[in-house]
Amino acid sequence: MTMDLDALALVAKKMVARGKGLLAADESAGTIKKRFDAINVESTEDTRRDYREMMFRTDCMKDRISGVILYDETIRQNAKDGTPLVKLIEQAGSIPGIKVDKGVKPLPFCGDETITEGLDGLGERLAEYYKLGARFAKWRAVIDIVPGSLGASQVPSYTAVRTNSHALARYAALCQENNIVPIVEPEILMDGAHDIDTCFAVTQWVLKTVFEDLYYQRVKLEGMVLKPNMAIAGKKSPKQAGVQEVAEKTVKLLKECVPPAVAGIAFLSGGQSDVEATAHLDAMNKLGPLPWPLTFSYGRALQAAPQKAWSGKVENVAAGQKAFAHRAKMNGLASTGEWSAAQEKAV
Ligand code: 13P
Repeated sequence: MTMDLDALALVAKKMVARGKGLLAADESAGTIKKRFDAINVESTEDTRRDYREMMFRTDCMKDRISGVILYDETIRQNAKDGTPLVKLIEQAGSIPGIKVDKGVKPLPFCGDETITEGLDGLGERLAEYYKLGARFAKWRAVIDIVPGSLGASQVPSYTAVRTNSHALARYAALCQENNIVPIVEPEILMDGAHDIDTCFAVTQWVLKTVFEDLYYQRVKLEGMVLKPNMAIAGKKSPKQAGVQEVAEKTVKLLKECVPPAVAGIAFLSGGQSDVEATAHLDAMNKLGPLPWPLTFSYGRALQAAPQKAWSGKVENVAAGQKAFAHRAKMNGLASTGEWSAAQEKAV
């Protein structure tokens, strides 16, 4: 297949269109089971379909959701009435996308650090996903921070940063060769006890490395979307940063590391609460004008509320859709810096 850079750039632009963002609904079988366990719903092919169909049929898809990241099972699934789920997404004017990494494996000689796998045969898989309707893809690299670790046992290690960055860049090049826009996601976890400045420094190192590797793999920046973490304190840190500090430090970090040619930036939520994830995005956009559109590609921060409202019951579908539409609207407003806490209450 020959790469069509104009087509790639157009899709990438649409993914970060003004006032819209991405829904990450690509939970693997194991992750969605965990989410369903929390609401006492058995995870079966049908319940997973019913839940996702509920979201894809919500009105807000048209106005607020530029694209949906799917899991392999979902991109092949039909709605209850037989319509392919991909068609439901397209009918709402949203773009279907696909998670293509195969998850993390332990990285040899690096303690608990991991490497994301899935490069072998990826070109062929991408060609098939294109036929199934995917126009963008996602690959998540996971980097952990252990504060205070030094020397050979430093975490993240040079080994983890370099190998994960290389895999991300190889994935991105294969995507573009197959006319699929890569979402490049190097996630620095916020599970630790580190402070915001440590997160800043590690994210800076990782992003610098990723863009170097993207250059060496000849990836076209206008045909990709970056999905980073924010500069934020670890959840267990006693020194939590306020909304303004997160916004200012994240924007400073991105300006230092992300070339303006990149089509757009769509954040992961990474374990932030729903409203925190929205407030941070809004505060960043209020600091504009910025070199790239800054929007959301949230999983948990968009879905926690609808999951709870739905709880696996047909009679709760309307409530689930209402909860999803609300979060999509709040994040859509945040993507243009037009959100306020008062709007959260105006439901
Ligand atoms: P969260 O927003 O829940 O971090 O999920 C986004 C995602 O796609 C992680 O890969």
